[in-house]
Amino acid sequence: MSVRISELQKTYGDQKALAGISFEALPGGITGFLGPNGAGKSTTMKILSGFLDQDGGTATVCGFDTRSQAEEVKRRIGYLPEHNPLYKDMYVKEYLGFVAGMHSLDKRKQRVADMVELTGLGREQHKKINALSKGYRQRVGLAQALIHDPEVLILDEPTSGLDPNQLADIRELIRGLGQEKTVILSTHIMQEVEALCDKVVIINQGEIVADGALDSLKQQAGKSGIDISIEFAEEFPLDERFKDKAVMRFSQGNSKRNWTLTVNPEKDLRGDLFRFAVENDLTLLGLSAETREVEDIFRYLTHK
Ligand SMILES: Nc1ncnc2c1ncn2[C@@H]1O[C@H](COP(=O)(O)OP(=O)(O)OP(=O)(O)O)[C@@H](O)[C@H]1O
Ligand SMILES: [Mg+2]
Repeated sequence: MSVRISELQKTYGDQKALAGISFEALPGGITGFLGPNGAGKSTTMKILSGFLDQDGGTATVCGFDTRSQAEEVKRRIGYLPEHNPLYKDMYVKEYLGFVAGMHSLDKRKQRVADMVELTGLGREQHKKINALSKGYRQRVGLAQALIHDPEVLILDEPTSGLDPNQLADIRELIRGLGQEKTVILSTHIMQEVEALCDKVVIINQGEIVADGALDSLKQQAGKSGIDISIEFAEEFPLDERFKDKAVMRFSQGNSKRNWTLTVNPEKDLRGDLFRFAVENDLTLLGLSAETREVEDIFRYLTHK
């Protein structure tokens, strides 16, 4: 087992940040760690990488306890913190050389050159860190997390603030790393979860509310309903006039021209809605059905 968290608790002052959470992450896959702002993601990641001490419970990395075997853990873990603190007065290569030194790596120059190549820092490698754009600083953060070739990677919002091109590059890099390593990444971007993650752990107010393969979570969410969107040219009180037992919820869009009907997944009501529109002399501009995705699961599970 690569990462195992058991009954982890953390309280800041009188605020409970982690209420005794447990989950695991295995090698050869990317675990998406999701949750609203303040849910406890960064707190968990800091504890895992040994930057913060818990109040209760345990965390192990490759079988080593983050508290009592911190050195063993540091050797095996790469961590990209949320705010990516870097020594901004250092040059990129100087900084990476410094990190390589902290890990007592051999062939440091070569290793730094490899990281520059891997994270696409080539053009910026001779600059000082404070001269870099946010995206390139993020790359330096990734390079420092990877330099000792760790088995486990903890990435706290690794793609926040990246432009669409950088986003694609960095995701590609993370996807590749996920083939061999154990990667836990936090993000607020649901497409990223769809694109990268095999497994999802959702935390809300310090408690785990979902933990499972992305596919099975989606399946579960699919059972909870599909959303049918309908648009008319005219305003129409659809919620009052269209009565069908399969409709679990009506929601109105910008006006009474746009409606979304959450329906029982066994019953696709598009045909009925089309006939209803014809019978009521309504001009139908759009009609589509969407199954529920990660975003719906997230909102459903973390809505206050
Ligand atoms: N150093 C601290 N002192 C006091 N409270 C803290 C501290 N760090 C975190 N907290 C609180 O603990 C809770 C969890 O914070 P955490 O940073 O782990 O959330 P998060 O899930 O990473 O959120 P975000 O998505 O906004 O990054 C929050 O309520 C936060 O205010
Ligand atoms: Mg955070």
